[in-house]
Amino acid sequence: MKINGTTSLFGIIGNPVSHSLSPIMHNAALSAMDYNGVYLPMQVENLADGVKGLRALGFTGVSVTVPHKEKIISLIDEVDSTAEKIGAVNTLLFRREDGKVLIRGFNTDWLGSNMALSLKGKMELKGCRVLVLGAGGAARGVCFGLVKAGAAVIISNRSVGKGQALADWLGCEFVASREIAHVQADTLINTTSVGMEPGFDMIPINSGLLGRFAVVMDIVYAPLETRLIKEAKQAGCHTVDGLAMLLLQAAAQLEIWTEKQPPIEVMRQALLDNLSCR
Ligand code: ATR
Repeated sequence: MKINGTTSLFGIIGNPVSHSLSPIMHNAALSAMDYNGVYLPMQVENLADGVKGLRALGFTGVSVTVPHKEKIISLIDEVDSTAEKIGAVNTLLFRREDGKVLIRGFNTDWLGSNMALSLKGKMELKGCRVLVLGAGGAARGVCFGLVKAGAAVIISNRSVGKGQALADWLGCEFVASREIAHVQADTLINTTSVGMEPGFDMIPINSGLLGRFAVVMDIVYAPLETRLIKEAKQAGCHTVDGLAMLLLQAAAQLEIWTEKQPPIEVMRQALLDNLSCR
């Protein structure tokens, strides 16, 4: 990558960002696309100041991560209707108009999970029944995407109030953790942090129940093969690991910024290389 006077600026804002794999993926992609751009990690504590800085510095596109995805909405000029419904923005696109810099927000998290299920899980989302574990920020995007695609969603969460609130917002079913054994569903998605390093020996559901699902997806990607994915494979399920969603939400961002098809295989390989040397 050669940086010169016309290099476009991209990056990620969050706090912290030091663990983020987005710079690895996006820089590999920009380079493979022969796009004169660079993608930087930017730890931002004061979001309002951060957004002012981005406007002033002439950025083209920025990813937004935890804890800024909701608060950023009040600081930008336009929000795509889907991101507005979800109540979270993970992608910013900058444009100059009449001497002003305007920022539009999008959400590609739900697109990433839908694409991971349909491409990697080889699933037809319309009409399928999906049990989603968790009711945090990640679950919100995943469940929204599923409902939008016509799937029936059943949410289960450790904290009943939070799980029920998400189910009410989406107009779907909630089941308490102890009732999971009675749920009829063809797909299981883990959106909780259970199984993530350093707790890699944890599993978010009783393994004895896994055999009933045709497809099991985990959004945890460190480790890549979580205990859930490993035991789902042993139970004969088709599995989708956390890399797929991470990769496909990033590819959707790059398409918004460059209006070009992103080199998904290059991005995937960059991620795999990075994860294997951790
Ligand atoms: P994110 O934005 O990544 O989704 P989050 O909003 O903190 O993060 O949500 C984390 C989810 O993982 C929640 O559903 C949380 O359950 P609670 O709502 O009960 O807190 C779930 N979670 C985290 N640790 C868990 C554990 N040990 N067992 C079960 N669920 C857990």
